[in-house]
Amino acid sequence: MASNAQIQTARAEFLDPSLYDDTGLAALPRLSRGTVLAALSRAFDLAEGRRPGHSQRVAYIGTFLAAELGMEPSQVEEVFFGCLLHDVGMAASAPGAQVETGRGARVVADSAHAADVLSAVDGGRWAAVIETLKAHCEHGARIGRKLGLGETVAKAIASHHDCWDGSGLSQSRAGEEAPLVARIVALADRVESMIDAESSPLAVRRRGPELIREMGGSELDPDLAEKMATIAERDTFWLGFYDNDLAATLMALGHGGMMSREELFDFLGVFADVVDGRNGRESGRSRRVADMARRVALTCDMTERRADLVKVAALLQDIGTLGVPAHFLSKPDILTIDEMSVVQLHPVYARDIVSEIPGLGAAAWWVGCHHERIDGKGYPGMLEGDEVPSEAQIIGMCEAFDALTSDRPYRRAMSREDAFEVMRGLAGTRFDPYLLARFESVAGPFPA
Ligand SMILES: [Fe+2]
Ligand SMILES: [Fe+2]
Ligand SMILES: [Fe+2]
Repeated sequence: MASNAQIQTARAEFLDPSLYDDTGLAALPRLSRGTVLAALSRAFDLAEGRRPGHSQRVAYIGTFLAAELGMEPSQVEEVFFGCLLHDVGMAASAPGAQVETGRGARVVADSAHAADVLSAVDGGRWAAVIETLKAHCEHGARIGRKLGLGETVAKAIASHHDCWDGSGLSQSRAGEEAPLVARIVALADRVESMIDAESSPLAVRRRGPELIREMGGSELDPDLAEKMATIAERDTFWLGFYDNDLAATLMALGHGGMMSREELFDFLGVFADVVDGRNGRESGRSRRVADMARRVALTCDMTERRADLVKVAALLQDIGTLGVPAHFLSKPDILTIDEMSVVQLHPVYARDIVSEIPGLGAAAWWVGCHHERIDGKGYPGMLEGDEVPSEAQIIGMCEAFDALTSDRPYRRAMSREDAFEVMRGLAGTRFDPYLLARFESVAGPFPA
C-alpha cells in the first residue's frame, strides 16, 4: 500500500501538463502489441504488489535466454509475450480475492513451491491462497487468448508456477512434458524473483549463477538453468538487466506487429474489460463509455485524431485501479481517509503507465485528470477551471452518466432523464456548462 510520503510525492508531481503535450501529431500513433504490453505490464506488477518493472525484467531474461538458445524469431516473440503477461491474471481476480493471499502469494510468486506456501501462511488459509494463485494462471491464459497472442503463449501463462520436478502449483506438466516456451517463462519469472530478493546488484552478480544452478533439476529445467547460469556470468546480461531504459528497449523490438486503429481499440478494450471485471462492473461498460466520449469529443469540434485519443484515454482511465486493493473498490461502506488516499492515487498510476507509450502523452495527462473538477474539489491535483482539460471532463461526464444509468448493488439504474437531471446539477462545479450541453446533444435530448 502507498505510504503517505508516496502520496505527497505523487501530488507534488502532478501539476505539469506541458510534460505530456504531444497533440501536434496528425494521427493516432502506430503501436506494436509489444510496445503497449510493455507499458501496461506495469499495471500487472501493481496488481501483484511487485516492484515496478518485474514483468519487463522477466521479459528481458526470457528473451535473452531464448535468443541464446537460437530459437526461431516467432518463438522468441512467444517467450516475450508469455513473460510480459505471466501475471496478468492477478489483474483479473474477482473483488476481494487478493485479500486472502497476503504473504503466501509473494512466497508462491517467488518460489512456486506449494510446500513453501504451507509454511508461510497461517492456519488453514493456504488452501485459499493456492486457489487464488491457480485462478490467476487460468485468468491470465484466458486474457492471453483474448488478446490473440496464440495458444503457446496462453499455455505458458497457465503453467508459469509449475516446476520441473512436479512440485509446482498444478503438481503436473512436469519435466520435458511442458513446452519449451513455458519452461523458459517459468525460469525467467523465478530468476527475476531470485535477483529481486538479493540485497544488492553486486551481491547478486557474484552469487546469481550459483543460485540459478541450485534451482536446476527441482524448480527449473536443469539444461535451461545451466544455460541461464552461464548467461548470468556475463556483464552484458547485467548491464541490460539494470538499464534504466529497459522499457524503451523492449518496446523498440516491435513484437507482435503494428496495430491498426481498430486493432488498437480492441486490444485496449480487452484490458478495459479486465478492469471492469475486477472492479465489479459489467463487462463492456468501459468500451461503451469510451465510444460515447469519442462522439462527445467530435461534437466539441475536436479533430478525429483528438477524439481517437479521448477514446484511448477513456479505455485506460481506470487501469491504475489495479494498484488499489480490490476490496477498497468493492467496499459497501464509506472508505476511511487512508483508504480514500490510496484510491485517489489511481489516476496518477494510470497517467504514469500510459505516458510510457510513445505518442500517448496527451492521453496520459487526460487520464490523470479524469477525477478533477472545475471547482478545484477533485483529485489528485485539485486543478481548477481551465486547468482541467476538456478531454478529461468529457471522459468524466460519460463515465458519470453511464454509472448513474447502470444498476448498482445499492440502487437501481436511474432513467436517462433522471440521470441527466443529476448531471445538470454538476454544471459549474464538476463540469463546464458548455461541455455538458455538448454532452447532452450526444446523449440526450432530455426535457429540462
Ligand atoms: Fe504468478
Ligand atoms: Fe511474476
Ligand atoms: Fe477513475
